[in-house]
Amino acid sequence: MKKLIEKVAVITGGSSGIGLATARRFIADGAQVIITSRNQCILDAKVAELGDRAKGIRADVTDMNDLDRLFSEIREKYGRVDVLFANAGIAPFSPFEAVTEDHFDSLFHTNVRGLFFTVQKALPVLSENASVILNASVVAQSGLPNTSVYAATKAAVRSLGRTLAAELSPRGIRVNVVSPGLIETSLWEKVGLSKNDVDAFAAQVVEQTPLRRAGKPHEIAATVAFLASDDASYFTGADLVADGGMVQV
Ligand code: NAI
Repeated sequence: MKKLIEKVAVITGGSSGIGLATARRFIADGAQVIITSRNQCILDAKVAELGDRAKGIRADVTDMNDLDRLFSEIREKYGRVDVLFANAGIAPFSPFEAVTEDHFDSLFHTNVRGLFFTVQKALPVLSENASVILNASVVAQSGLPNTSVYAATKAAVRSLGRTLAAELSPRGIRVNVVSPGLIETSLWEKVGLSKNDVDAFAAQVVEQTPLRRAGKPHEIAATVAFLASDDASYFTGADLVADGGMVQV
């Protein structure tokens, strides 16, 4: 049975990786999906691939005007948002001693400020009983070298999930967090390490992961689809860790 029929779902950073896989899954589950990306060409290509239940709206989550325009266009066209997946994020790595103010600020700017105001700006258009899912990471619960700033942003996202779950519950809005482990996406091409270093890092993580492999974007999409659906009607403030057991065992 399709679990998201008639739902209007928004996915930030929906043109690649986990966001794109989630768009595919939401559409398969019957939703109307709006994906955002900062790049119009990429957005157009991905929407063409996803088909007529997808719409793309160019928006940078760090730009408040973009967020206002995003939700006002959605209000005009669809009238409401039933599911919001705040997924857009960046993950540059850096040894602690080499962290610059720019590295620090850009990570918090996108992963925390951008995500925070995505949800705040969506609020007027969120339907009663909407489901909001925040994309955090297992790094919020572990001590992975070179992720001091990235991990702190994700711990902030996890914290926000708790507070918003409490604050938005009077409207029946559920707010949950998904914390992926190592997932095969293009994020790893952008962390600032050489391919060899990424491969060595991934091999080390896989070694520590009971399921002995990295995850696939569609596996996170399935977790997000569960949180989005009525099957998760008694979940709020939770953090679903999908990491092959990496930090859970
Ligand atoms: P990805 O790089 O394919 O996806 C991130 C998306 O966010 C991209 O489409 C990017 O263009 C977009 N984005 C970045 N800054 C943006 C901005 N200012 N405005 C709008 N969009 C912006 O990588 P992936 O892996 O799909 O990442 C998605 C989320 O999952 C991120 O929040 C990441 O931190 C999180 N995550 C990923 C893990 C992994 O191993 N791949 C593990 C744990 C969490």
